[in-house]
Amino acid sequence: MVLTSLPRNPLSPETDRMLVLHVVGARPNFMKVAPVYRALTNRGVAQLLVHTGQHYDANMSEVFFQQLGIPQPDENLAVGSGSHAQQTAVIMTRIEPVIVQSQPDIVLVYGDVNSTVAAALVCAKLQVPIAHVEAGLRSFDRTMPEEVNRLLTDQLSDLLFTPSEDANQNLLREGIAPEKIDFVGNVMIDTVVRLLPQAIQTRSLDLPQPYGLLTLHRPSNVDDPATLQPILTTLLEFSREIDILFPVHPRTRQRLQQSGFNQLGGKLHLLDPLPYLEFLGMLHGALFVVTDSGGIQEETTFLGVPCLTVRENTERPITVSAGTNIIVGRDMDRLAGGIRRILGGQTKIGQTPNLWDGMAAERIAYTLVTRYRPVAAASAN
Ligand code: UD1
Repeated sequence: MVLTSLPRNPLSPETDRMLVLHVVGARPNFMKVAPVYRALTNRGVAQLLVHTGQHYDANMSEVFFQQLGIPQPDENLAVGSGSHAQQTAVIMTRIEPVIVQSQPDIVLVYGDVNSTVAAALVCAKLQVPIAHVEAGLRSFDRTMPEEVNRLLTDQLSDLLFTPSEDANQNLLREGIAPEKIDFVGNVMIDTVVRLLPQAIQTRSLDLPQPYGLLTLHRPSNVDDPATLQPILTTLLEFSREIDILFPVHPRTRQRLQQSGFNQLGGKLHLLDPLPYLEFLGMLHGALFVVTDSGGIQEETTFLGVPCLTVRENTERPITVSAGTNIIVGRDMDRLAGGIRRILGGQTKIGQTPNLWDGMAAERIAYTLVTRYRPVAAASAN
């Protein structure tokens, strides 16, 4: 790999210092930044952490910082909720002066949320190098806001850290120069590897046995009652046979309240959003998972737990080709058939994808230090 082709930050006058600025904003970012921050700290790299405030409820944000051992953000932009345009625009407006003032050598952005693309766009205009962690994933479905965020962020990035080989292929097809692409593995799995023993240890003894786990938050599933209702009705039906635990995302909670589904009854248990350790412990012990999340498709593949994904596509195809994931779409017969087979003892056996080994952040830190602190790299590694 060519390690000398990236532009230096023209705003940074020093040549012997290295400052990495991380931008995070939403729940799925936090488990990704934690191992990267830690790996760079271990190499003595100066870092700044900016939280955009896209997710602001304590149980969507603060508790993750505590459990994952992420330091308090140096800046919190407190952008809150809004339309996509509003949220993205406010993040851009508020992060620009932070970048200008702090003059980082490189900015790290994570995943595919609005905070990711907003920060990348600001950095590109300021000519500050950008590294995208979890680059190259594609659902090929541009009706998903995250797909737009992924495409744009990758085009703007100087360094693209990919979690799987399919992501490399996607980037090459889109004309990204090969020397910008670094296949490092899955940083979210780094966090699972580190915290799984603790998560299992702290798992509540009061959990029913066995149980299924449900999460839903995609606008395409929860915003229209005509889509949400059949999913819940299907799960409610199965909850006569097995307990189903349902930690409810704030967006979904609002929709449930608006459409009067708040009291679901039966053994479909509505819970508040869970802290990381509690959720990971619950995921590990589940008989099956029904979800529309991206990250949970990967975590279940790593844990070997059967996952039924209620979406028409996935940007994480390796969880289907190698892992335990089955895409059931919004076809309730397929969802019901999938659960029925699992209850009957027929489960999909998967394998752990290449480089989902708990060391992805170490590879990222190595590349960053090698490229951006060339003089010190030898002593740091
Ligand atoms: C965002 C990400 C999505 C990610 C998800 C994980 C984008 C485009 N979407 O979706 O990729 O999978 O986070 O959670 O960035 N809300 C609260 N408290 C909070 C956060 C949100 O009440 O702490 C409510 C707000 O009313 C908001 C709604 O939830 O309107 C949705 O939040 P938003 O950040 O817009 O998107 P998510 O659906 O969470």
